[in-house]
Amino acid sequence: MTVPMSSPKHFLDIADLDASALNGIIAAARAMKDARKGRPRGQRETDEPLRGRMLALIFERPSTRTRVSFEVGMRQLGGETLVLSSNDMQLGRGETIADTARVLSRYVDAIMIRAARHSHLTELAAAAAVPVINGLTNLTHPCQVMADVMTLEEHLGPLRNLTVSWVGDGNNVAASWIQAVGRMGGRLRIGAPEELAPVPEVMAWARAQGADVSLMTSPEEAVEGADCVITDAWVSMHDTDGETRHNLLKPYQVNGALMGLAKPNAKFMHCLPAHRGEEVTDEVMDSRNSLIWDEAENRLHVQKSILLHCLGA
Ligand code: CP
Ligand code: NVA
Repeated sequence: MTVPMSSPKHFLDIADLDASALNGIIAAARAMKDARKGRPRGQRETDEPLRGRMLALIFERPSTRTRVSFEVGMRQLGGETLVLSSNDMQLGRGETIADTARVLSRYVDAIMIRAARHSHLTELAAAAAVPVINGLTNLTHPCQVMADVMTLEEHLGPLRNLTVSWVGDGNNVAASWIQAVGRMGGRLRIGAPEELAPVPEVMAWARAQGADVSLMTSPEEAVEGADCVITDAWVSMHDTDGETRHNLLKPYQVNGALMGLAKPNAKFMHCLPAHRGEEVTDEVMDSRNSLIWDEAENRLHVQKSILLHCLGA
C-alpha cells in the first residue's frame, strides 16, 4: 500500500488561505516584531525555529526588498538561504520549471520564486515536494500585501473597519489587495483607467466572495472616504508598453491635491520602488502620513511568519 505524501504547505496567493490563517500570520509577525525591538538586525531569534533549514530564492526579475527581507528573515529564524538568478541556472537554458522543482526539492526545505510569469509559480508548486512561496509574479504579490495589511492595522486598527483606495495601474499588487479584502474584509475602491483595470478573473472572484470592492475610472472619486491611498509604479517589471502607460496614468498621480480629497490625515502606502514625480510626488512620499518605510520593514516580519507557517515550525 502506498501512503499518500502530504502536500507541501505553499504560500501562493492570499485567496488560497482563509481569514483565520491570514490573521494568524499577521498576528505572529507582529509578536515577533515587538519581541525584537532594540535588538541588532542580524541577531537570531533565541529559539532559532528554522535552524538547519535551507531556503532557495529564485529570481527571474530583479529585487531589493524581497531578496534582502527573505535573506535576513531566514537567518533571524536560524535558517540559511541560497540566492539563485534564473539566468545563472539551467532554467535559463530550457530545463523545465517542473524538473527544476524536483531537483531543488532534494536540496532545500523551501523555495521562494519571483517569477516572470504566474504559470512558472504554479508549475513550480505543482512539482515541488517542499513549500513554494510567491515572491511576485506578473499577476500577484501576496507577501507585499500581507506586509501592507500588517502596516495599516498597526496604524489604524482592523482592516475590516477601513476604506482603502488603490489609484493607478490595476496590477499584480492591486490583485493581491483585492484578494486581501475578499478574505479579511474592509472596503477597497479602485481608481484605474479602463485599459488598466484589474484582470476580470480577480474582480469576478471578489464579487463571488461578496467583497466590498468597487472599480471606477476617476481617481478623485476613488479616494473619497479613504483611510489610506495606495499606488504603485506605472510600468511594472513585465510591462513593455511604457509610453502608453505613462499617457494613460498621468491623471492618476498621487499628489497633495488628490490626498486632500481623502479623509483628513489619510495614510499613504507604496510597495516601492517608487518613481518620484511620476505615480507619486515627494510631498506625499515624505509626508508624515506616509507609511512606506514601515511597510518595507514589515516585509521582513510578515515573511518570517509566512516561512514559519509553510514550514510548520
Ligand atoms: N516591493 C518589492 O517587492 O520590492 P523589490 O522589487 O525590491 O523586491
Ligand atoms: N508592480 C510592480 C511591483 C514591484 C515590487 C512590478 O511588478 O514591477
